[in-house]
Amino acid sequence: MGPLGSRAGQTAVEHYLRPGTLQLGAPPPLSLYVHLPWCLRKCPYCDFNSHESKGDLPEARYLDALRADLEQSLPLVWSRRIHSVFIGGGTPSLFSPEGIDRLLADVRALLPLEPGCEVTLEANPGTFERERFRAFRAAGVTRLSIGVQSFDDAALKRIGRVHDGAQSRAAVAEAADAFDTFNLDLMYALPGQDEAALQQDLATALSFEPPHLSIYHLTLEPNTVFANRPPVLPDDDTASAMLDLIVDTTGTVGLQRYEVSAFARPGHRCAHNLNYWQFGDYLGIGAGAHGKLSFPHRVVRQVKWREPARYMAEALAGRALSNEDEVAREALPFEFMLNALRLREGFALQDFRERTGLPLSAIELALAEAERRGLLAVDLTHARPTARGFDFLSDLQQLFL
Ligand SMILES: C[S@@+](CC[C@H](N)C(=O)[O-])C[C@H]1O[C@@H](n2cnc3c(N)ncnc32)[C@H](O)[C@@H]1O
Ligand code: SF4
Repeated sequence: MGPLGSRAGQTAVEHYLRPGTLQLGAPPPLSLYVHLPWCLRKCPYCDFNSHESKGDLPEARYLDALRADLEQSLPLVWSRRIHSVFIGGGTPSLFSPEGIDRLLADVRALLPLEPGCEVTLEANPGTFERERFRAFRAAGVTRLSIGVQSFDDAALKRIGRVHDGAQSRAAVAEAADAFDTFNLDLMYALPGQDEAALQQDLATALSFEPPHLSIYHLTLEPNTVFANRPPVLPDDDTASAMLDLIVDTTGTVGLQRYEVSAFARPGHRCAHNLNYWQFGDYLGIGAGAHGKLSFPHRVVRQVKWREPARYMAEALAGRALSNEDEVAREALPFEFMLNALRLREGFALQDFRERTGLPLSAIELALAEAERRGLLAVDLTHARPTARGFDFLSDLQQLFL
């Protein structure tokens, strides 16, 4: 990455528009990510920018900071419409519906949203009641994503969740009641979990007929409690059998695996995450939020101040941006592939050209090698991982390093 160095914090648009060696096409769709960084308790496996809330949340001050952050970002996305909004965390459902209403009113006042814009909010079981969900919807949230993880009391306890299985079930039932579309997050290969227990979790999840499921393999992330004191986890063969079980079970009820960890019924794919995977643009506001923005001759990545108190102070003083880098020309093919190859349908060759600003010749050799190894199918317009390429995704992605 080539640092923009002393320009960090400035939004002199000319600086982003100056000539360069890349030739990007029309700007890709632009999404908005809003980070709300507090949780009731930090989970032992979690490495997200989430902080245990001690006492009341500084909700009003944080919302002021978000608005200031957004105002500071506006010159970089001038005249562009917002394709999707994702309010993630942390535990966004800890915020009051009035707070979310104010946040979305601020967003709408400052940015044009595309008609029918998807607005997702992450909610945790046990942090709300029925009226709260309906109020989120009335505030403009169109899609709820519920962090269930499991429905099994013992499993939830072993991964340090604050809710139990009954609260997981109640949350999903309420989401299904209040929203036309919603997502459940589940994790598998949990400590003490066997295939029968996973099957039970899947059966419970599917009994609610979710339009979308995200199912993640529990990973031990550096600097977490679990990384320091690892629990006993299912072995690799069991985890792989669990994934087969997930793919088979979801397939039989019409949920299509359109991305490595994402399963959806027709018409219910997550527009926001699709935009990430298709190497679209996103503006990130909030503590530690990341952004990626395209200009005619460069792609820029941004990060906001990570620690919530520091973030609020800096954003309110007009300096929400903590770091900014221009993605180096050599890094772009791998960055693009890291995302695009996660999609079962792969990508349009035209999108590679338009979104990286590079000619197709930059990946010609790697495409041919991936095809020779049976990992990728390439035709005149598209490249798509084969079943084998999807199973050995990191081998496929490495070819573009
Ligand atoms: C950003 S988290 C926030 C969601 C919400 N706070 C919650 O925990 O329910 C989004 C999802 O990432 C997944 N996740 C978090 N840490 C993980 C880990 N170490 N391994 C696998 N999945 C993880 C969980 O399924 C979680 O619901
Ligand atoms: S609730 Fe979600 S974001 Fe918060 S600590 Fe747990 S996994 Fe992380």
